[in-house]
Amino acid sequence: MRILVTGGSGYIGSHTVLALLEAGHDVVVLDNLANSSKESLKRVGELAGRPAEFLAVDLLDEAALDNAFSTNEVDAVIHFAGLKAVGESVEKPLYYYHNNVGGTLNLLRCMERHNVRTLVFSSSATVYGASEEVPLVEKLPLDAVNPYGRTKEQIEDILSDIGAADSRWNIALLRYFNPVGAHESGRIGEDPTGVPNNLLPFVAQVAVGRRDKVMVFGNDYPTPDGTGIRDYIHVLDLAAGHLAALDYVYSNKGVHRWNLGTGKGSSVLEVLAAFSKAAGHEVPYEFAPRRPGDAAISYADPSAALADLGWSAHKTLQQMCDDHWRWQKENPQGYSA
Ligand code: UD1
Repeated sequence: MRILVTGGSGYIGSHTVLALLEAGHDVVVLDNLANSSKESLKRVGELAGRPAEFLAVDLLDEAALDNAFSTNEVDAVIHFAGLKAVGESVEKPLYYYHNNVGGTLNLLRCMERHNVRTLVFSSSATVYGASEEVPLVEKLPLDAVNPYGRTKEQIEDILSDIGAADSRWNIALLRYFNPVGAHESGRIGEDPTGVPNNLLPFVAQVAVGRRDKVMVFGNDYPTPDGTGIRDYIHVLDLAAGHLAALDYVYSNKGVHRWNLGTGKGSSVLEVLAAFSKAAGHEVPYEFAPRRPGDAAISYADPSAALADLGWSAHKTLQQMCDDHWRWQKENPQGYSA
């Protein structure tokens, strides 16, 4: 198949583009490079032995987007492009709604015009909000608690309405838990701009000496060691989940929702221990107050993805940390080095 991938030069996008190329698909990447670099795709091409086509297109530019569909006949779309910093979304909600929801509306209108109705959408476990009910199952009501999360929830609603109104659409809504790790070559990985918001990239930058210490947000949660528990999933397992979902929706109409997680939670201290082992030295940390809006425990019930797609995550927390560390160590300044 020929797949159009929005946001394909970003962290999860680049790993998924590589998996698509390795599976024999042709790929056209659309990205505005707002939070990524073309270097990732250059390296993906080297790893795959053939390139993905790249078009510098912003989803808010509907004319350029339409032109991309006119000049490329595609069978399906995987839609990653979007802004994703929770704190920034609270400060600039309009920017987030315009970009994420507005950009997706443009994409859907172009898809309709060009008769492409197979879509895999990059959603997030953030749509479950502060639900204390674990494991999180797909049928739980959605209740995102910040503007970023609400853009994901609103896009899920829009896609559900479109799928209900027109049976020609095949849509997968993939709710990611906490993607971490990197390709085992150490050539591609996560390269956040500015101060990382998420745990693993922050830990990795401390381990490589770019930052002093990790602040552990809260050690008084009702968990065995008092620190927050999350469902970390290796980005290669996540990429494989996209291929499985794509195969499924290509031959099954309707709107489908799947959690992509391991089903197993790890605490912040467990992550620090595994990362220290990977790096071969202790990663320094200090306890700090809880971060507002954080849940104590979040992990997936991934059984629907296993039942429907035959997909499950295989890589361990240690493999995630080993691979994340290899990428960070060999690219201390990310792609800009
Ligand atoms: C965060 C976002 C979520 C988003 C997800 C993936 C918030 C409130 N939630 O989820 O919307 O979908 O990232 O991008 O921002 N931690 C520390 N020190 C740090 C960073 C994190 O102790 O410097 C802790 C957190 O308190 C949490 C765990 O590490 O217990 C994981 O944090 P993070 O990587 O930010 O992911 P989430 O909070 O699950």
